[in-house]
Amino acid sequence: MAMLAIKGGRPVRNTPFHSWPVFDRREEQALLKVLRSGKWWRFAFGQGVELAEPEKGDRSQVVLFQEAFARRHGCRYGIAAVNGTATLDMGIRAMDWDIGDEIIIPAYTYVASSTCVLQNNLVPIFVDVEPDTYNIDPSRIEAAITRRTRAVMVVHFGGQPADMDRIMKLARKHHLAVIEDAAHAHGCEWRKKKAGSFGLFSSFSFQSAKNMTSGEGGILCTNDRTLAVECDSLLWSGRHVGRPWYEFHRLGWNNRLTEFQAAILNVQLQRLSAQTRRREERGRYLTRLLKEFKGIRPLVHDPRTTRHGYHIYMFRYDEPALGVPRKTFIEALAAEGVPAFGGYTFPLYKNPMYLQKRFINGAFPLGTRYHADVDYAAFESQCPVSERACRSEAVWLNQNLFLGSRSDMEDVAAAIEKVLRHRHELLR
Ligand SMILES: Cc1ncc(COP(=O)(O)O)c(C=O)c1O
Repeated sequence: MAMLAIKGGRPVRNTPFHSWPVFDRREEQALLKVLRSGKWWRFAFGQGVELAEPEKGDRSQVVLFQEAFARRHGCRYGIAAVNGTATLDMGIRAMDWDIGDEIIIPAYTYVASSTCVLQNNLVPIFVDVEPDTYNIDPSRIEAAITRRTRAVMVVHFGGQPADMDRIMKLARKHHLAVIEDAAHAHGCEWRKKKAGSFGLFSSFSFQSAKNMTSGEGGILCTNDRTLAVECDSLLWSGRHVGRPWYEFHRLGWNNRLTEFQAAILNVQLQRLSAQTRRREERGRYLTRLLKEFKGIRPLVHDPRTTRHGYHIYMFRYDEPALGVPRKTFIEALAAEGVPAFGGYTFPLYKNPMYLQKRFINGAFPLGTRYHADVDYAAFESQCPVSERACRSEAVWLNQNLFLGSRSDMEDVAAAIEKVLRHRHELLR
């Protein structure tokens, strides 16, 4: 008789894991308050960066959120926007770098880390990630620097900060800006300093799967006042604080968050510390449970990561040694009641957009004189870790699992152990 649930056996677990998003009457009341106020948008321009005029009455939820979130993340300024793609784009746009300047980014990341580069007529140059953390590998950055490089973007992948000791040192040495894509890193810390407070600016996402959410949303955080003022202007279609309403000083956009979203986020922020501590405790516990499993190796929790967000819990699946395709393993795990995911199917540079260089107006090189010969397929040979992670190695578990009990972690471990032990059934 088959043991595995996918072959007709009894599953390890029949109950769902912790639900997401988390909300209660506080969100309901906050939303109703905004609804009844009739003030559904961030009603005063310039607030949060510098006050255009003294405030009257209730403060905007967006402004309150910008201040509170930025402060919690070690930054003086926060500019909230429609999503984390927009905040990355805004920060880069505000820098006015030249056409064809290069930004170094990790090969293992979501597309938004690179669209913000291309949108601004800059060229993304991919660097591989570390095998133990899937964060950008500092030892490979120097080889990618050219005289056109302006910045290194780190992605604090899955909620674990990149190696900010080495990255900040490299950036200082080569006079490069550091951009932190912190879409996964709410409340995270590197050596007790908040992820998002190291670089020129950072960008967080509040899209529905993220560790804090308002359905969609994002925020740019910075300690650079000039950058903050520029981004605030970009968000208001290019207006300037203190100047007339119909005066536009640069090519901006309307990327503004609504008061409804900010009202939700103000409540979600109150939960962030407790939820982050819980995810971290559960993540560490699961790692201890998986320690002895042959063919499974959790990513390493660097001791300098003093707060890990476990936005994604990742372990490495040794497909060649186990002899079962990762896809089949994940399907068997799902049948046992544990939802898992293989993550990105190939490194970012292998997407058709890159291979065919179909960027703005269907073209490349976006007016640069230098990059006609860039062949994104050629990054394959430089990025073996990202290639392997995508092809067969990475297995992702979502953050909401880590809001549950310790016994949930024991179920996850039991399901993995069971599928490994009976994997011969999958080969029949
Ligand atoms: C690494 C990374 N950067 C940026 C983003 C973009 O955020 P948003 O979906 O809010 O635009 C995401 C979203 O999934 C992401 O995973």
